[in-house]
Amino acid sequence: MALLLDPEYPEQLDRVSKIFRSSNPVALPTETVYGLAAPLLDERAVAKVFALKGRPKFHPLIVHVLNWEMAKPLIAVQDDLALRLVKYFWPGPLSILFKKSELVSDLVTGGSDSVVLRCPEHSVFRNVLSRWDAPLVAPSANRFTGISPTDCLSVLKELGAFGLEAVVDGGESARGLESTIVRVDSEKKISVLRPGAVSIEQLKEKLPEGVKVFKEASKEVPGSHARHYSPAKRMLLLSNEKDFKALSKSDLSEMALIRVLAKDAKWLSGDSFRAEFVLSERNSDLEAASALFRILRKLDESRVYKSIAVCETSDQGLGAAINDRLRRAANQS
Ligand code: TXA
Ligand code: MG
Repeated sequence: MALLLDPEYPEQLDRVSKIFRSSNPVALPTETVYGLAAPLLDERAVAKVFALKGRPKFHPLIVHVLNWEMAKPLIAVQDDLALRLVKYFWPGPLSILFKKSELVSDLVTGGSDSVVLRCPEHSVFRNVLSRWDAPLVAPSANRFTGISPTDCLSVLKELGAFGLEAVVDGGESARGLESTIVRVDSEKKISVLRPGAVSIEQLKEKLPEGVKVFKEASKEVPGSHARHYSPAKRMLLLSNEKDFKALSKSDLSEMALIRVLAKDAKWLSGDSFRAEFVLSERNSDLEAASALFRILRKLDESRVYKSIAVCETSDQGLGAAINDRLRRAANQS
């Protein structure tokens, strides 16, 4: 049975360090989604992260650090642009790919010579990092291809039955979408490998002309899968009126519809569906992002609906990351 730890009590945070010392992972809150954390330098603990998630060995893990000081020993080549990004965005949900030093084992990077580093801003994760005083790996705390958890009960539903020892309760993740992952390509250019909680517009504000966005960013990340973030139920992505018209009456009568923003997909006639959920009535991409995984999970668990339909939203702001997750959640392959 997994322990639910309250970060308000220092002795409960001591339990986290104790579990790390016994080479076991603990699920921790971050501002994006909950992560399954384990000491980077302990290969036994890292192997348990892969086992608990049911994750293939070639799928690399993001490494979490308290600050740039903790990051430096893990990096073989420091370039100026990466340092600028660190100054602009850390702590916060921007993960950066670096050439790795020998301290980072191939087990963590799936054999690649690069490592992705992230400096979270969530106070509980930072508190644990500062007590442990060494880097932690932390992939999202869900089973392989599942929906990322944004609260501790979702973590327990994902991993409780697979031998998770403990989760620290940090409330709901404020952002609700994973970090943005970037690679530095040259002195002035970066590529976005995974759209996420830092929007393309925010990156371009700091690096006008210097941000490359791939049409299918997932192909740029080793171990990234077309199918991911997936509910167990059938899920459909509606891009236009044609997709909607292709649905049969009986499909619609058992289907829940998600509209990301209230202003999306005006071509839909809402009463055709069993029920409709709007992630942000006031058309805020931030609010929609923070609700997305929570509502997907709720609808997946509900007995009322057999399937879920979601309307694609505009790629503006966090819309790009939301659409990326929706496409992968709806992918049948
Ligand atoms: O917001 C986040 O980034 C969350 C929280 C917990 O921090 N973590 C997270 O980790 O989303 P994960 O493992 O679910 O997704 C990490 C992605 C994977 O697609 C992985 O392939 C990619 O980052 N990645 C990690 N290390 C990499 C590396 N060395 N080279 C290329 N891609 C890497
Ligand atoms: Mg994940």
